[in-house]
Amino acid sequence: MKIIKKITEMQRLLIDLNLKQVGFVPTMGYFHEGHLTLMQQAKKDNDIVISSIFVNPLQFGPNEDFETYPRNESRDIQLAEKNGVDILFMPSANEMYPNERMVTLIANDRTDVLCGRSRPGHFDGVLTVLTKLFHIIQPDKVYFGLKDAQQVAVVDALIRDLNFSLELIGIPTVREDDGLAKSSRNVYLSQIERKEAASLYKALKIGQNLVVDGEKNPDTIIKEVEAVLTNETSGSIDYVELYSYPALRPISVINEQSILAIAVQFANARLIDNILLDENGNNVNRFK
Ligand code: PAF
Repeated sequence: MKIIKKITEMQRLLIDLNLKQVGFVPTMGYFHEGHLTLMQQAKKDNDIVISSIFVNPLQFGPNEDFETYPRNESRDIQLAEKNGVDILFMPSANEMYPNERMVTLIANDRTDVLCGRSRPGHFDGVLTVLTKLFHIIQPDKVYFGLKDAQQVAVVDALIRDLNFSLELIGIPTVREDDGLAKSSRNVYLSQIERKEAASLYKALKIGQNLVVDGEKNPDTIIKEVEAVLTNETSGSIDYVELYSYPALRPISVINEQSILAIAVQFANARLIDNILLDENGNNVNRFK
């Protein structure tokens, strides 16, 4: 596996890879099984797998955890190599953002709900860094976890609006045995919170089962999910929301592909999770 820190070096290497199919897994590092699953899938689908580790300052708000975001480069390098990555791109902040930026990307749609509402500017930062990374790496396919389903919806809009010639692949959330979605931020949970955190997925499944049993009213489902989270966790609910997916528009009846999504703030960790449902409440396991 090659480790590359400079953009020009990455671009020179791409000339050598010219005719090969490139799968790209952009990350902020501190790998867990979710990332590794994306790498493994990229390996199956492509000739070359490129992953990036870059903790993007632009997508963190002033009171968010940019400084303390978990990092472990040497472990990440070993894991990337073991899981099929051919090239690991690890630029510094100065390499990615050397000057004051003259062009800013702003997400106009799909961002005023869910995490976008409480994280102003977050998705603008994601779009900016991904646009740069897509230009630098020029992948054929790009892989994201559906745990960040809003991010997948926003990237879908980016790819279509700016005509990137690449395929977006959304991979189902990887979970612990008790259902907790794997996340780099889970390390911030206390022991008690870690136990309670299993209720996030439990609450989503209860919501899903209501839809499977014929409940079509989003408000009824949201109330049930909120009740489970309130009764079973000490965290405070940031949101429980249900929208069409990937458009992320409010719906009054569940009769199309939709997302049931939650965010819960614990003492030192804000956890998110979601389920994608078809009109009958069945799991949707791939982004389309
Ligand atoms: O999901 C992430 O880790 C980040 O938002 C991403 C896509 C790597 C952009 O910085």
